[in-house]
Amino acid sequence: MKTLIQGLVAVALVNGGAAFAQDATRGEKLFNECAACHSPDRAAKDTVGPSLHGVVGRKAGEGTEFRYSPAMKRSGITWSSDTLNSFISDPQKLVPGNRMPYSGLPEAKDRADLIAYLQATMK
Ligand code: HEC
Repeated sequence: MKTLIQGLVAVALVNGGAAFAQDATRGEKLFNECAACHSPDRAAKDTVGPSLHGVVGRKAGEGTEFRYSPAMKRSGITWSSDTLNSFISDPQKLVPGNRMPYSGLPEAKDRADLIAYLQATMK
């Protein structure tokens, strides 16, 4: 429930235009960190991980035909700028036991730009 409320607050912030300056072009370059395992392309199939096209707004573990871990399916998360920020910061902390072999992106600015890219290109 807490994550749901946090998600709604984040959506409200983005819709209100109150989010701080984010750079989706820089975010596209940062996506190279993820591209080894994730496609940003609508048409592309799942690779090592699920396609991230349209990830903002979808429920964790349900977006694609990917064989998600039970931990991801049970997480009850809806991906918003807020939940993505906390997941990318420390994937195992937000979803303990998930199977994404990635330790996290430590810089807040990097995460904000990456999420701006995910939002801008994947609707
Ligand atoms: C080494 C491979 C790898 C890298 C690098 C990686 N991921 Fe993942 N990712 C995965 C796998 C595998 C899963 C599925 C995890 C599960 O089911 O537990 C996943 C799941 C996810 C999900 C949940 C998707 C959904 O449909 O619920 C998101 C969001 C995500 N990754 C974002 C990212 C972002 C953003 C980056 C770059 C900062 C990244 N990942 C880097 C392998 C990777």
